[in-house]
Amino acid sequence: MAGTPSYQKQHPPTGSSVGVSAFVKEYMGFLLPRDLNILWTVGAMLLAVLALMVMSGLSLALSYTPDATLAFHSVEALERRLPAGWLLRSLHMTGASFFMAALYLHVFRGLCYGSYRAPRRGLWLIGTALLVMVMVTAFAGYVLPWGQMSYWGADVAGKAVGAVPVVGPFLERVFLGGDAPGTATLHRMFVLHFTLAFSIVGAVILHVAVLHAKGSSSPSGRIGERPDRKLPFYPYFTIKDTLGVVLMALLFTLVMCFWPGLITESANYRPANPLHTPADIEPEWYFLPFYGMLQAVPSKFGGLVVSAGAVVILFCVPWLDKGAASQLPWAGRRWLARVALGVLVVSFIVAGLAGRHHVQGPWLLAGRIATLGYYAYFLAFLPFYARLGRRGEDA
Ligand code: HEM
Repeated sequence: MAGTPSYQKQHPPTGSSVGVSAFVKEYMGFLLPRDLNILWTVGAMLLAVLALMVMSGLSLALSYTPDATLAFHSVEALERRLPAGWLLRSLHMTGASFFMAALYLHVFRGLCYGSYRAPRRGLWLIGTALLVMVMVTAFAGYVLPWGQMSYWGADVAGKAVGAVPVVGPFLERVFLGGDAPGTATLHRMFVLHFTLAFSIVGAVILHVAVLHAKGSSSPSGRIGERPDRKLPFYPYFTIKDTLGVVLMALLFTLVMCFWPGLITESANYRPANPLHTPADIEPEWYFLPFYGMLQAVPSKFGGLVVSAGAVVILFCVPWLDKGAASQLPWAGRRWLARVALGVLVVSFIVAGLAGRHHVQGPWLLAGRIATLGYYAYFLAFLPFYARLGRRGEDA
């Protein structure tokens, strides 16, 4: 075709080819906007960490015992006696934190560039479902070593579920498998952790397949999505993704080997003791913003709704922002959108800090303002900004 750049001519459509090679060619020749920035490599990082989590998780499961009297010691034995057991567990624990950090970055990228808009609404919904699945998997996994935080974390979560009107006490019993966390809880968490991990793999395949069908969005919006502004996945984006994964692996190794305290909780290296409530019960760092929101509301059920709603609201984003297709939240001179995204990020961090300080004293006020700031982005800013865009005004 006259005028087609040479790099596109090298990768003709492969409709007539069959089998694995056709599949590989299809993916390798897949055209992507050439201005994709470093934030677009986070998806590849997520894939790499997911593979690591599944492999290390399967190996850990070989020696883990889901019994309240044995779980802690089975993990200790793995750490101290099995060859490279400590490495296996460190990989899995560090991987959980990197997975969540990468997920938050991935969602942030989507919000920045409006990647949730048509025709990628379904892709966004699958992504949000994945976020929920990963969060539940991470929570269930944290209970498994049956340390002090595992036990008391399960206790707090059980009580939060129990605050649901009418069905709460029933749900709490289903969740815990009894009146208090114990062996039945561990069995539930182990099954949940295991099955969700594999469901996540399935959902990720769907996620990438839908992306393949709909195509990537671009930092420069519709202009960047034009065919003449695209480059094939191989070699351009394979190199970029590989660089992203290597950089992440370096950071991963640094944290795992030199600063493990950054992502681990020392209290969880003590066995669960139902008779001793720790002075500070707090979840892993990646749940702190939601924990902060949970505590910022005086009523237990209200806190649960606000905290769970902070994730559920992500499902609604493509319908809250009905802006013009050309209007990108993070493009050009959209200073208003930048300020709003800044407020969202700061609110999320402050809610996390409030969660860490148990939302009391000045942190109570900070936690409430942060919760308002977080919700204001989705419920007030997005619809307002979309209207501005539809009127063709430049914010
Ligand atoms: C297990 C978790 C996930 C994995 C492994 C994963 C993987 C990927 C990969 C490999 C890509 C293509 C590369 C890229 O754009 O970075 C991608 C794109 C995308 N993901 Fe995810 N993802 C996950 C979760 C999520 C979540 C939680 C959301 C949003 C709520 C999301 C929304 C999107 C969107 C909108 C795109 C398309 C971006 C574009 O327009 O180019 N994903 N994902």
